[in-house]
Amino acid sequence: MLEHDVLIIGAGLAGMRAAIAARAGGANAAIISKVHPVRSHSSAAQGGINAALTDRGDEWEDHAYDTIKGSDYLGDQDAIEVMCRSAGQSLIDMEHMGVTFNRDEEGKLGTRAFGGQRRARTFFVGDFTGQALLHVMFEQLIKSGVQRYEEWFVTSLIIEEGQVAGVTALEIRTGKLHAIRAKSVIFCSGGCGRLFEPSTNALIVTGDGMALAYNAGAKLMDMEMVQYHPTTISGSGVLLSEAARGEGAYLRDKNGERFMEKYAPNMMELASRDVVSRSEQTEINAGNGVNGCVLLDCTHLGEKLIMEKLGQIRELGLDLTGKDMIKELVPIRPGMHYIMGGIKTDIDGQTNLPGVYAAGECANVSVHGGNRLGANSLLDTIVFGERSGTHAAAFTRGQSYINVNEGEVVAREEQRLQGMLDRPDNGDRWGKIRLAMGDSMNRNVAVFRNKEGIEETIQELQELKTRYTSVPVHNKGKVFNTDLIFALELGFMLDCAETIAVSALERKESRGAQFRIDYPKRDDENWLKHIVVSQGEVGPELSNLPVTITKWTPEERKY
Ligand code: FUM
Repeated sequence: MLEHDVLIIGAGLAGMRAAIAARAGGANAAIISKVHPVRSHSSAAQGGINAALTDRGDEWEDHAYDTIKGSDYLGDQDAIEVMCRSAGQSLIDMEHMGVTFNRDEEGKLGTRAFGGQRRARTFFVGDFTGQALLHVMFEQLIKSGVQRYEEWFVTSLIIEEGQVAGVTALEIRTGKLHAIRAKSVIFCSGGCGRLFEPSTNALIVTGDGMALAYNAGAKLMDMEMVQYHPTTISGSGVLLSEAARGEGAYLRDKNGERFMEKYAPNMMELASRDVVSRSEQTEINAGNGVNGCVLLDCTHLGEKLIMEKLGQIRELGLDLTGKDMIKELVPIRPGMHYIMGGIKTDIDGQTNLPGVYAAGECANVSVHGGNRLGANSLLDTIVFGERSGTHAAAFTRGQSYINVNEGEVVAREEQRLQGMLDRPDNGDRWGKIRLAMGDSMNRNVAVFRNKEGIEETIQELQELKTRYTSVPVHNKGKVFNTDLIFALELGFMLDCAETIAVSALERKESRGAQFRIDYPKRDDENWLKHIVVSQGEVGPELSNLPVTITKWTPEERKY
């Protein structure tokens, strides 16, 4: 039987960082991913990674304050402290591994400004930072000797003696189902962006790990906090990096006005993302947009800067909107980008389930709270990926494997999948249900929300869940059966969507990315607390946890 001390699910930045750390900690570590590692969604992160370097006159406390304010005081300050204190070393480690960060005129690592931060502390590689980091991390992964299961899809967790004892996984190339035993499992499986349509996220971002963990008893936290990025392309949802505004781009309405003056007179276009997205949507709703968009103006930045630092997004704008940002304004709008919520962990990635860890976007160590600052996500993956891997390796030392009856486990799971393949062809295809879910989420659980809308989505999700049970799988074959995989992903997505909607309904205030038009004020007295979702007998059960406040007292948030 395949077995590993530490099995990491997901091979994006968090996953690879965790695997390398677990291996360095002496564990027999393996990583399993439904896509080849360098196709992971971390590669889509464009603008950069934050770190406060003291030799630049920046301090981790300033980074922490900006992050806490950005989170609308919902981030746990002890976790934010860990992340911001570690940022400088993590950045240097990445540089030493081989990331060719942009340099300034003096040859030092260069920075650009990013939203919600009072200093330029975002280190970058053009406008494809995530991709650069991911490729370097992959080299390190190969060097580390970690066992890789590439293009294997985890279908379920193996639970024995009330504990997670491994996973079942489909080898996509052959269709063979395997059981893998593990002393510890680390979820690094990314977010769930594709619950919304459109989204900046890759099609693979379907909440698999969150749903697997949730259904096994892990707690999810802050699921209502969904980030809409201010600059996405209408229709496709493709991201045009905040790097553009970091380099000095403006946002204009149909009359050419820089409308951010009304909403964030100090930070303007570089206010936090929730504030900018809301401002844009307000202008669009008031009829001040152009075809449901506002306009990104880079024309004053000059061709040289754009080609050197924003070349990828210039090309995206050109291909997808027909506008050349060197000389034209590009239509953009807020679009779903990131989920701050996720599997609740402590600062070492531990969940409430023994031996089960999480890191990266699928996790919620609570460093982003109600709104994540741009360029803190790459940092989060690296800092907490490493911590989780290190801790998991130590946890498994001296532990023995839980007994697993491989034959029985595989047969049971094969039977379940065969049941899906054998369904009669009289239900809706997975694509139809997925789109209906995405539309509903984007209509009612978006930048602005209210009770009626959220309730409508909860109702629609119930109906979609019922229809999901008869989704047919047309491809009956074994080799690369993506029809079956997409059907399985949809089940994970519906579970995640439900946790988001019920949490959004529960939070009767406006904070960070959650703006309730029926409760337009932040209400610290009643809602300075996390909403936790657990899988109950008949559906999601909600509870609360306090926010950890150390030395930064909540105050009114202005930019
Ligand atoms: O706009 C961006 O480049 C996105 C970065 C991020 O989400 O951290």
